Amino acid sequence: MTLWQSRLSSPPADALLAFTESLSFDQKLWRFDIQGSRAHVLGLTRAKLLTHDESVVLLEALDTVYGELESSSFVFLASDEDIHTAVERRVTELVGDVGAKLHSGRSRNDQIATDLRLYSRSALAEISRGVVEFLSMIADVAEAAGDAVMPGYTHTQRAQPVPIAHYLLAHGWALRRDLDRLLATFTRMDVSPLGAGALAGTTLAIDPEFTAGELGFAAAFLNSFDAVSDRDFVVEILFDVALLGVHLSRFAEEIVMFTTEEFGFFRLDDSYSTGSSMLPQKKNPDIAELARGKTGRYIGNLVSVLVTLKGIPLTYNRDLQEDKEPLFDSVEQMTRELVAFQGMVSTMTFDYERLRQAASSEYLQAIDIAEYLVTNGVPFRRAHGVAAGLVRDSLERRVPLRELVGAHPQLGEEAMSLIEADAAVRRRVASGGASIDSVVAQLKRYRQELHEL
Ligand code: ARG
Repeated sequence: MTLWQSRLSSPPADALLAFTESLSFDQKLWRFDIQGSRAHVLGLTRAKLLTHDESVVLLEALDTVYGELESSSFVFLASDEDIHTAVERRVTELVGDVGAKLHSGRSRNDQIATDLRLYSRSALAEISRGVVEFLSMIADVAEAAGDAVMPGYTHTQRAQPVPIAHYLLAHGWALRRDLDRLLATFTRMDVSPLGAGALAGTTLAIDPEFTAGELGFAAAFLNSFDAVSDRDFVVEILFDVALLGVHLSRFAEEIVMFTTEEFGFFRLDDSYSTGSSMLPQKKNPDIAELARGKTGRYIGNLVSVLVTLKGIPLTYNRDLQEDKEPLFDSVEQMTRELVAFQGMVSTMTFDYERLRQAASSEYLQAIDIAEYLVTNGVPFRRAHGVAAGLVRDSLERRVPLRELVGAHPQLGEEAMSLIEADAAVRRRVASGGASIDSVVAQLKRYRQELHEL
């Protein structure tokens, strides 16, 4: 029997139960549901709505149910609509009338909001941990790359030589912002909805502040309507994950590209590569490709919940049940993605020689020629014209740029030394630029920020 059967004259149609159930996916919340119920029992006891003995009976029953769920010996019934119903039904089976007191002053509306916030807190903690580990891995890989150089690209066209570490730290800084967002989301969502009841609180003397404290929330809700209908935290987590996914996807795209034979810049470790069922020679970057591919899901999950929310009047509406699957999906996928991606990057190797060669193409130093002229007082636009003219000449006449620079009246011997990737990355003095000095300073600051977390 469902919890609400008494109101209705005929039993629920099978089609109704099949369509409206959420047990198949909200089972995941069982730990949090029991945690919330324990706090609620303590709150009821404190309000003298349960005697001390009843409280002990209920807490023990909740422990039993916890054990059954943990060992997968819990038997779900067809009439269990969701995890809340299932737990309460079982507690009542175990301890009879005392069990029937469990739901006093509580609605599934504040209950699910509480469960979901408890879940979200632990999900945020787990993803944040994954990001922190990823960030420190990036620092190690960047440090190991030392002052080795690679070409930097714009429009996927070689642009300027940069230290590999500078490139890696760029991804690090993006994820550093993701971490900030995850932590800010945590702080904002750290509010307990328990005690809001169905929508307007309860006449029973329970104290939401007390249960908030029991559950380790920073505060209790201030408005019961808001408490049962707010799902901002779900949206925020989905956004944080989507943007983190987008960042990893961009990195992934480079890994796919740079591990091709055509580029040959990076090599994936065999334990983080896949083979082909047909083509014997294949070694594929599947982790990177799936990281790129799953981003579609993350974005879809975010959009899905936003669209669900947009038309819902206050307060609770059953539509809200649709928040869970997208949230669980993004959290679970991202948790796994972070670990796999981290393993892939930390075991990846660089073909330093090939990278240096690619970064040493003379034309990548054309801007250095122009800036040399600027230092000697030539207006930049004219200097740009001189350097571009030399590049064009060099290409058309098939003469190395170096030679043309040496022969140019405004450049000459001294300027010839500019045509060298390592020299270029040493000369960039502006802070934050792609110079070795900047990378050393960046890495220091980056590690310091990680240390202070
Ligand atoms: N399964 C529901 C959900 O996920 C729980 C709340 C049900 N509340 C209700 N009044 N029907 O939102």
